[in-house]
Amino acid sequence: MSRLTPVLTADQIHQVVKSIAERISRDFQGRELVLIGVLKGSFIFLSDLVRQLRIPVKVDFLQARSYGSGTSSCGTVRLTKEIDVAIRDKDVLLVEDIVDTGLTLNCLLGHLKGMGPRSVGVCALIDKRERRATDVPIAYAGHVTTEGFLVGYGLDYAEDYRELPGIFHLEL
Ligand code: IMP
Ligand code: MG
Repeated sequence: MSRLTPVLTADQIHQVVKSIAERISRDFQGRELVLIGVLKGSFIFLSDLVRQLRIPVKVDFLQARSYGSGTSSCGTVRLTKEIDVAIRDKDVLLVEDIVDTGLTLNCLLGHLKGMGPRSVGVCALIDKRERRATDVPIAYAGHVTTEGFLVGYGLDYAEDYRELPGIFHLEL
């Protein structure tokens, strides 16, 4: 039987998202900001985040699949959904649910940089910093943790648990 242990309540997540939204609103005041969510895990975080911003933004999504456990930044990552919004000369923030090794993110950042944006940064709700295998800067990190596998608030295990309003540690 699998066991769920609470890590962040819905109220705590709300506070984390609010403080990230305040920083982004301040930093990108007067700019043309495009938020790009990484599917599927970021869908709840991104939808809460945009509603707490005080600046206008455009929204799009990317999806990537990773295969195997290769250590190259892009060799095992395949893009399965491309963005539609034009990002040339725009400020871009890639919105991730959780950054673990950082390999997926590194690949996606390289891809977006190739499209000629004015800037590209990363916003992640959960940062498993200790597990990083590649150096990827996270401008806006919500909750830094060393806890094992997390689910809820968009995060899944085999497509389950995304609907939970809080975030939990999953023990199988
Ligand atoms: P990375 O390339 O190792 O950073 O993998 C990042 C992706 O793996 C995230 O976007 C998640 O989709 C997934 N992932 C990593 N850790 C967890 C976790 O604890 N719970 C759920 N998904 C995770
Ligand atoms: Mg993800």
